[in-house]
Amino acid sequence: MQNIIGIETSCDETGVALYNADRGLVGDLVYTQADHAAYGGVVPELASRDHVRKLPGMIRELLDRAEMTARDLDAVAYTAGPGLAGALLVGASTSVALAAALDVPAIAVHHMEGHLLSPLLEDPAPDFPFVALLVSGGHTMLVAVEGFGRYRLLGETLDDAAGEAFDKTARLLGLGYPGGPEVARLAETGDPDRFDFPRPMTNRPGLDFSFSGLKTHTRELVARVAPEDHADVAAGFEQAVAETLAIKCKRALKETRMQRLVIAGGVSANTRLRAELERRLSGRVYYPSLKLCTDNGAMIAHAGWYRRAEANRDGMIAVRPRWPID
Ligand code: KG4
Ligand code: ZN
Repeated sequence: MQNIIGIETSCDETGVALYNADRGLVGDLVYTQADHAAYGGVVPELASRDHVRKLPGMIRELLDRAEMTARDLDAVAYTAGPGLAGALLVGASTSVALAAALDVPAIAVHHMEGHLLSPLLEDPAPDFPFVALLVSGGHTMLVAVEGFGRYRLLGETLDDAAGEAFDKTARLLGLGYPGGPEVARLAETGDPDRFDFPRPMTNRPGLDFSFSGLKTHTRELVARVAPEDHADVAAGFEQAVAETLAIKCKRALKETRMQRLVIAGGVSANTRLRAELERRLSGRVYYPSLKLCTDNGAMIAHAGWYRRAEANRDGMIAVRPRWPID
C-alpha cells in the first residue's frame, strides 16, 4: 500500500491529503468553513452542505498538485468519528464510493487517533510510550499510549472541552469564532496576573478536567469590568487554562512513569500552553506543527496508513459520531 488519501469532514474543516509510505506527506489541503462565524459556533447542517460543495473539487486539486491521478491511489482513509453525524457522512460516503470506483480498500479512522498520532509526522518524532494530551473543540483527554493502538484513557473533561471554553470566552468578550486564536491574540497585550482565575480540579487527586466553572467565573468578571480590561481578562483566562492543563500533564507523566508528553488538537496551537508545558516539563514535550494542530486530512491519511491492516472492501458507509478512544 503506497499512496493513501485521507479525507476529514468531522466538523467545520474540509481536509484532504496524500500520504506516501516512503515519502511521507506529499500533499495537504484544508478548507476552513467561514459561514459559522456569524452564528458563534458550528451549525451542523451548514457544515454538511459545505463539505458536499468543497470535497470533490479539493480531491481533484490535491491529485493535480501531486501530479497524480485517482488511479495512483491504493487506499482511501476517512474520518468515521467522532464528530457531527451529517458532516461525517459526507466524507464517509464520498470515500467509500471513491474506493469502490477505484477498486481499492477504504479505511475508517478515529479522528482523535488522527490527532494523537500527528506528532509522529514531525522530526524528531516521539518514541512510544507517551502520554497524549488531546485538546480540541470537542474533547479534552489524557491518554496513556503504550504503543500504536494501545490506548488507555487516564482522564477527560467532565463538562466543557478546553477549546469550547476558549470559544465561549471569546463570545463573552465579543470576539469571533473560532475563539481560541482570537482570545490568544487579545491576551498578548493583557496582564495574566491582574485578575484571579481558578485552576479547576488541580487541588484534588485525579486526571479529569472541568472547564465550566472557569467559564462562569469569566462571565461574572466580564460583567463587572470595563471593555479596556478585556485583554487582562483574556490573558488571565488563557493562563488559567494553560496552567490547569500543564499541572495535569505533569501528574499524568508521574502516575504512568512515562517520560514523554505529546500534545495535539486545536488548542495545542496555543503558545501560552506550550510555554507553560515547556516550563514544567522542559524537553519532554512533542507537538505537531501549527498546521497539523487543527483538523486536517494529513493526520487522517497518516493514521490510515497505521490502520492499513483494517482496510476493507465491504462497501459499508457507517459513521460513529460518538466513539471512545480505548
Ligand atoms: O482540533 P480542532 O481543529 O477541531 C476539533 O476537533 O474540535 O480544534 C478546534 C478548537 C477550537 O475550539 C478553537 O477555538 C481551538 O481549537 N483553538 C485554539 C487555538 N487555535 C485553535 N485554542 C486556543 N489557542 C489557539 N491558538
Ligand atoms: Zn479535531
